[in-house]
Amino acid sequence: MSIIPPTLVFVAKLLLLLISASFFSHICTASDSITLSQPLHDGKTLVSKDSTFEMGFFTPGSSGNRYVGIWYKNIPDRRVVWVANRDNPIKDNLTTLTLTKEGTLMLLSKNNSLIWSTNETAATNAMISSPVVQLLETGNLVIRDKKVGNSNNEEGFLWQSFDHPCDTLLSGMKLGLDIQKGLNRHLVSWRHWDDPSSGDFVQGLVPGVNPEMAMWKGSVECYRSGPWTGSRSTGIFGLTTNPLYDYKFVNDGNEVYYTYTLKNTSVISLVVMNQTLYLRQRLTWIPQTKTWSVYQSLPQDNCDFYNVCGPNGICFIDGSPMCQCLEGFEPKSPQRWNSTDWSQGCVRSDGWSCKVKNKDGFRKLVRAKLPNTTRSWINQSMTLEDCKAKCMENCSCTAYSNLDQNGVGCSVWFGDLLDLRGSQTGQDLYVRMATTDIDAKHGHRRKVVVAITVTVSLIVMLVLAFTYMYKIKTKYKEGTMLTGETDEGKQEDLELPFFDFATIVKATNNFSIDNKLGEGGFGPVYKGTLLDGQEIAVKRLSSRSQQGAREFKNEVILCAKLQHRNLVKVLGYCLEGEERMLLYEYMHNTSLDSFLFDSIKRKILDWPMRFNILNAIARGLLYLHQDSRLRIIHRDLKASNILLDNDMNPKISDFGLARMCRGDQVEGNTRRIVGTYGYMAPEYASDGLFSTKSDVFSFGVLLLEIVSGIKNKTLTYEDDDHNIIGHAWRYWKEGNPIKFIDVCLENSCNILEVVRCIQIGLLCLQHHHEDRPNMSSVVVMLSSEIALPLPKEPEFLLKKVFIEREQSSTRQTYSINEVTISVLNAR
Ligand SMILES: *[C@@H]1O[C@H](CO)[C@@H](O)[C@H](O)[C@H]1NC(C)=O
Ligand SMILES: *[C@@H]1O[C@H](CO)[C@@H](O)[C@H](O)[C@H]1NC(C)=O
Ligand SMILES: *[C@@H]1O[C@H](CO)[C@@H](O)[C@H](O)[C@H]1NC(C)=O
Ligand SMILES: *[C@@H]1O[C@H](CO)[C@@H](O)[C@H](O)[C@H]1NC(C)=O
Ligand SMILES: *[C@@H]1O[C@H](CO)[C@@H](O)[C@H](O)[C@H]1NC(C)=O
Ligand SMILES: *[C@@H]1O[C@H](CO)[C@@H](O)[C@H](O)[C@H]1NC(C)=O
Ligand SMILES: *[C@@H]1O[C@H](CO)[C@@H](O)[C@H](O)[C@H]1NC(C)=O
Ligand SMILES: *[C@@H]1O[C@H](CO)[C@@H](O)[C@H](O)[C@H]1NC(C)=O
Ligand SMILES: *[C@@H]1O[C@H](CO)[C@@H](O)[C@H](O)[C@H]1NC(C)=O
Repeated sequence: MSIIPPTLVFVAKLLLLLISASFFSHICTASDSITLSQPLHDGKTLVSKDSTFEMGFFTPGSSGNRYVGIWYKNIPDRRVVWVANRDNPIKDNLTTLTLTKEGTLMLLSKNNSLIWSTNETAATNAMISSPVVQLLETGNLVIRDKKVGNSNNEEGFLWQSFDHPCDTLLSGMKLGLDIQKGLNRHLVSWRHWDDPSSGDFVQGLVPGVNPEMAMWKGSVECYRSGPWTGSRSTGIFGLTTNPLYDYKFVNDGNEVYYTYTLKNTSVISLVVMNQTLYLRQRLTWIPQTKTWSVYQSLPQDNCDFYNVCGPNGICFIDGSPMCQCLEGFEPKSPQRWNSTDWSQGCVRSDGWSCKVKNKDGFRKLVRAKLPNTTRSWINQSMTLEDCKAKCMENCSCTAYSNLDQNGVGCSVWFGDLLDLRGSQTGQDLYVRMATTDIDAKHGHRRKVVVAITVTVSLIVMLVLAFTYMYKIKTKYKEGTMLTGETDEGKQEDLELPFFDFATIVKATNNFSIDNKLGEGGFGPVYKGTLLDGQEIAVKRLSSRSQQGAREFKNEVILCAKLQHRNLVKVLGYCLEGEERMLLYEYMHNTSLDSFLFDSIKRKILDWPMRFNILNAIARGLLYLHQDSRLRIIHRDLKASNILLDNDMNPKISDFGLARMCRGDQVEGNTRRIVGTYGYMAPEYASDGLFSTKSDVFSFGVLLLEIVSGIKNKTLTYEDDDHNIIGHAWRYWKEGNPIKFIDVCLENSCNILEVVRCIQIGLLCLQHHHEDRPNMSSVVVMLSSEIALPLPKEPEFLLKKVFIEREQSSTRQTYSINEVTISVLNAR
């Protein structure tokens, strides 16, 4: 009797089972499609052909709700990029995704009630013979007719999930309008990480003559991209050329949308609205670390919040305060404005009068995010000149600009200007105000202005010449004693000499080490001799600056316009390839620090000389802060930046360089603090906040150094024993300020004058920048006998700043550049 052993039967059954299991699983999981005969049940998934995306039923967190969604198949922490029934959760696991003969995809519960459907109009779907639902490699779920077209032809899709985005924008998706299809595709955040229902953080397109993207928190608009201007948006839309993705904005009458495509399709990167953070983030998957890295966030900073400075206000992220009124405007409610409530914005302060001669003109606002375009008008082909005329003719027009950054087209604005900010990627805007028309390229008006200013300045010069004839033995070739403030007509024509690289190489003996005069915060300085024998100082700016040639030239011309007897004169510039150089007049006595901190040379500097130097620096600084109309903040004032001419007259150098060297951020986030620790105001060193008052602080330190002859060489502000501010304060408190005075001055000084200076210095060093006097007060205090207030303790001595290094520093933090309202003529 042959009996088959039971174990063998068991093994055979097992084998059969295994074979059939693998057979079925093969059939079930390999599919990327739903057909009429093959619906998708809970527990099963679709997988795109290349296995990038997977679609199926899922339960987020511990919510217990079930949803149909699409996610990346190979990323461990499931990141759902699309949810079908986000606002209609399923409570059990018995639902089915079914395709109808008409080509509608339906999510049906066990009793056949409809939970969700693709809901297309039956009419367009009527002719379908064999519909199929397919999950494509792009993450797009499409319904199409198997017999018509292929899976890559968008025209053939009856429906696609890309037209109904949730919170995620994938490569190839369009954000915006399709008028023909009646679509307005926008992104809506999840309510919470485990709740995909529609949240209140939304990004979408605002249609109009010049459409823009915007984001809302509930009903409050919180971000605006700025209008599209050619290859980039004027707002910080993150749209700079980058290695990760290409982007485009299409506005062709039927469709208006933004889209991006990844350059490398094997990189995983997406845009998602995150309601927890209220940020729109671009995330990129880093396979090595198995994490998502944030490539970019919007809003990017405080200036990005929609209209933060109110109507006619402008935001400068590194301004202090960040909001300012446009030139020609003043706060509507000064009280609220001063308490940093900027929402009321600004109203006209100047006597602007429509179409009245000399009371109506435009001033150029350099590089701004253009204002809200809802009340604007555009023409694609007008020139800037016509654009201006167009704006001029309508009294409610407030500004105009080129439509396109390449200098094409015209855009004009009516009424209040909303949501302005200074922006490196921005565009020039011409704001209407009471001004003689300084931006006109030609025309008789300009000539009149020039004629008037020249006449006026001639008269003033004559008067001054008589008054000062004996005082001043003219050393100033340009006769710019008048500080040139309102004299724009004349300055406009300033042509700054350009020197080619070869000339400078020759002049500096190929930047030989023997010619090197020193190394400043922005690069080394060389002595040079031109062919005609003229001696020059050449500042070779370090090539960190990414600034464009035109920008650089503008900044140089700007610096060259700053002419004052106590500022080093800019003689010319060089711009070749990566090289950016500035040529200054050469100063025979080099810098103040080489005298002040030298045990022998310091004796040359007697008190009258030092007092003269102090006064002169104060006047130079005042000119930078106020009189030059451009409000330059020096940001690196120190003894080594004060140069001395043959007669020991001081001249401030390196002004404007903080502006010029700002363009070195990579993605707009990392910016540098420039300056020298030891001279830096506490709010600048610790928070990157700078203002004219931080220069006042540096001036205070310089003043104490000049009085004491001691270098403020402390490494930290904590250790007040080794800090001249601490010294000065202690002696002052003890009522013994005389001990602080340089012993060299014993014979030459007027004690009362010196003590008064120390007091002024301490006033400049007060902790709160509001307490510090401005430079015009300092000039008055130094040159008169008015009563001085008592200084408050420089509180920052009590551990505010932790700094390890001295020297000019470049610290990675936010903040930089200054007011960009300027009178420059781009040409
Ligand atoms: C469905 O849910 C029930 C109870 O919640 C569970 O027992 C069952 O295993 C689930 N079925 C599937 C296919 O997930
Ligand atoms: C079907 O079931 C849902 C809950 O799953 C219930 O709300 C609905 O009333 C039911 N419909 C019918 C016709 O039974
Ligand atoms: C289908 O569309 C109509 C009109 O477009 C709308 O009223 C209805 O709520 C939609 N139904 C579903 C299930 O989305
Ligand atoms: C938002 O981002 C934070 C931090 O990355 C994350 O913890 C949170 O889950 C996200 N929220 C949503 C709704 O995705
Ligand atoms: C522009 O302003 C209008 C009304 O003030 C507002 O409705 C609109 O959303 C704004 N547009 C953008 C793009 O921010
Ligand atoms: C695309 O990315 C993958 C993975 O990061 C990389 O291996 C590949 O070299 C990249 N391809 C190109 C053309 O850069
Ligand atoms: C606001 O501040 C400015 C400058 O500090 C000051 O001149 C003005 O008086 C202040 N206005 C009010 C109403 O406080
Ligand atoms: C735009 O300007 C051009 C040139 O000035 C003019 O020919 C054209 O008609 C204008 N288009 C519109 C729509 O105003
Ligand atoms: C000026 O422009 C506004 C806004 O477009 C318009 O309503 C008004 O009619 C225009 N006025 C004139 C005189 O053209």
